[in-house]
Amino acid sequence: MQNVPEIFHTKRLILRKYQPGDETSVFKYASDKKTVKYMNWPRHNLLSDSLKYVEYAIMSFEKGVDFPLAIILKRDNTFIGSTGFKLVDFQTAFIGYILHSDYWEKGYATEAIEFVYNWLCKNPEIKHITTSCHYKNQASIRILEKIGIPFELIKKESTIFPNLEGKTHQTRYYRKTI
Ligand SMILES: CC(C)(COP(=O)(O)OP(=O)(O)OC[C@H]1O[C@@H](n2cnc3c(N)ncnc32)[C@H](O)[C@@H]1OP(=O)(O)O)[C@@H](O)C(=O)NCCC(=O)NCCS
Repeated sequence: MQNVPEIFHTKRLILRKYQPGDETSVFKYASDKKTVKYMNWPRHNLLSDSLKYVEYAIMSFEKGVDFPLAIILKRDNTFIGSTGFKLVDFQTAFIGYILHSDYWEKGYATEAIEFVYNWLCKNPEIKHITTSCHYKNQASIRILEKIGIPFELIKKESTIFPNLEGKTHQTRYYRKTI
């Protein structure tokens, strides 16, 4: 996909393309046990893990396939998490999101994800919007319900969760067809 803006503004947040130097901020959320519990990638142990991710995030945005966006608080420029979308085929976008646990329960994730979802809904290249979460991830389930992304199905033991002893667990899938 071409011409994805490198920066978006919501009421309280800036969503922007990753930049060199973001690894320290990524490490804060990606190394936090509570934050990464339900993620499908392993917790970062080293700053170099976060550096690799930042390099990937910048490169993939430029390639036009995966568009990770840093979530920044407008009020004081704090980097609090990440959202964005990835093209899983030429018409389907998968939305991802994570917020450092210090910033949960303030509506920031809803604000960021709803913005990305609405932007995708208006993009003529996109026909399907999907996302997924661990079946016990209540905050995530609630956000997707609030935004109105339709629940599609639960797949049993379909995803490996590296931060839950690397076991497979049930996963809830959501899909909007435009
Ligand atoms: C999921 C996540 C992004 C939510 O971030 P957040 O900023 O706290 O979300 P919001 O404040 O916008 O909304 C959370 C909603 O979930 C609700 N919620 C939170 N924990 C809950 C729980 N244990 N049970 C039920 N509802 C819960 C909140 O009350 C709120 O709903 P409300 O507005 O109706 O009160 C954040 O918890 C996170 O980053 N988790 C770790 C990473 C992750 O799981 N990412 C998703 C991978 S699929």
